[in-house]
Amino acid sequence: RSLLTTAATAGAISLNAAHAAPAASDLVFDADHYVKREVELRGQRIVVRAYENIVYVAKPVDASLQAMNIYVPDAYFRGERIGDFTADTAPIFLPNQVGGYMPAPPGSLDGAKMPGPPNRPNTIAEALLRGYVVAAPGARGRTSQGADGRYTGKAPAAIVDLKAAVRYLRFNDARMPGSAERIISNGTSAGGALSALLGASGNSADYDAALRALGAAPARDDIFAVSAYCPITNLEHADAAYEWQFQGVNDYKAISIAMLDFKVERKEVAGTLTPDQVTLSSALKTRFPTYLNSLALRGPDGRALTLDADGNGTFKDYVKQLLTASAQQAQAAGQPVGSAPGVKLEDAKVRDIDFAAYVRGMARQKPPPAFDAVDLGSGENDLFGTEQVKARHFTDFSFAHSRVAGSIRADAQTVRMMNPMSYLGAPGATPAKHWRIRHGASDRDTSFAIPAMLALALQNKGLDVDLALPWGIPHSGDYDLDQLFAWMTQITG
Ligand code: DHB
Repeated sequence: RSLLTTAATAGAISLNAAHAAPAASDLVFDADHYVKREVELRGQRIVVRAYENIVYVAKPVDASLQAMNIYVPDAYFRGERIGDFTADTAPIFLPNQVGGYMPAPPGSLDGAKMPGPPNRPNTIAEALLRGYVVAAPGARGRTSQGADGRYTGKAPAAIVDLKAAVRYLRFNDARMPGSAERIISNGTSAGGALSALLGASGNSADYDAALRALGAAPARDDIFAVSAYCPITNLEHADAAYEWQFQGVNDYKAISIAMLDFKVERKEVAGTLTPDQVTLSSALKTRFPTYLNSLALRGPDGRALTLDADGNGTFKDYVKQLLTASAQQAQAAGQPVGSAPGVKLEDAKVRDIDFAAYVRGMARQKPPPAFDAVDLGSGENDLFGTEQVKARHFTDFSFAHSRVAGSIRADAQTVRMMNPMSYLGAPGATPAKHWRIRHGASDRDTSFAIPAMLALALQNKGLDVDLALPWGIPHSGDYDLDQLFAWMTQITG
C-alpha cells in the first residue's frame, strides 16, 4: 500500500490519492480496503487508514452524496492507545459538511477539497491527532436533482441520510475500530441544525420508511453526543423568534440565498423594510410569546422562563444573562467589549446589556418573514419543496400571507421531521445524552432565542447541555476546537 505524506499549513492539508469509485454494497465494512496517509498538523503527525467514499446505503439515490469518508488512526490496528483511547473505546467523531441546506459531499482530510476559505480549521485532522476515529458523511440537499430533473434532496432527505450513516457505523461496529456507542456529531448552521436533529430524534420510527427505501443498515441510529454551531433550526418558529429580537430594526444588510451557506464568502446588500414588511414584523413578533410560553421552559435555577405579550419577561432576562456572561468572559480575556452598543461596564466588569441597543448595533440580516418568505424565495422554502415542486411554505402565517399565486404548504409531518424540538420527550425517540451548543453573539442568521430554547428544552429533560454565545463571533463554526475537544474529553472520560 502507498504511504502518502501530507503537508499541512494553517490547518489546510493537501494530498493526492485515488478515490475509489462509489458503489452500492452489502454494507459490510471492508477493513482491508484502504489507503494509508500521514497527516501532519502543527508539527504533529499521525498515520491513518483512509476508507473513502463508502456508500452507506444499499440503494443510494445519489451515491456521491450518500457516502462517507472514514479515517482510522493506524495505531488502533496494532493494539496501541492514543491518549486514553483504544480501538474499543475511541469515540467516532461524525462531522457533516452541510451548509445552507445544500448538498454536501463527504468531509475530506484533503483541506484543498473542502469548500470555504483556505485557513478554515481542518477539524477532521484535529480529531485524528487526538485519537478519534472520524466518519465524515455526505448528505443530499435542497438543490439535489436526479437525471430526470426530479428533486432528490428536499426535506427530510438530509437527516435521513445522516441517520443511515449512523446505522452503517452501528451495523459495522465490531468490524471497525472506534465505538459506535460513542458517536459525537458536529455541524455548523444548517449542518448544526442537522447535528441537533440527529441527536434529538434517535431511533424515531418517523424516519423508518425512508430509511428502508434507501436500504439503510438494520441498526439503531441514536447517538452519544451533539456539537452544534449556530443551528438554523426550529424553522417553523424561527420567523416569530427573529421578530421578537429584531422588530423595530428596519434597516437590514441582506445576503442572497446563494450565500446562505456559512462556508461561502458573503456579500451584504443594504436595504430598509417596506411598510408591508414592517407590518409583517409586528404581527410575527406578537406570535412569539405564545409559542415560547407553550414550551414551559425552566432556567438552570428552576425558575419559569416566560414572556409577556410585549415579549418581555424572564426568558428575555435569561438571553440577556447569556450575552452578559459572554461579554464578561471576553472582557476578562482582554477583549475590548465596552464599545459594543448596549454593553454597560462598571469597574471594568460587564454589569448589564441593553438588549434593544445591542440588537440595533448588531443589525438585522433578514427581512420578515426571515425563513418562510412570502415570495417563497428563502433557502428554507427551497428545503421544503418536493420531488416536483421547487419551494413550499411551511408555516400557516406565511402561507396565509403568501404573495405567490398557487403556492402550497409543506405537510405537518415533514416540517416536524426537520425540527429537533419535536422529538424531545417524544415516544420512541432516544436523545443524545450530551450537548454542546454555540451561537456567536454577533450571529444574526437566526434569533438568540433559537439556541436558547433548544438548550433549555434539552436541559429540562435532564440532558447534559453546555450552551454559550461566544462574544464577537459571527455566523460560523469550529472556531474553538481546543474547547470543543476538551468538552469531548470530558463527556467521554
Ligand atoms: C444557513 C444560514 C442561514 O441563514 C439559513 O437560513 C440557512 C442555512 C447556513 O449557513 O447553513
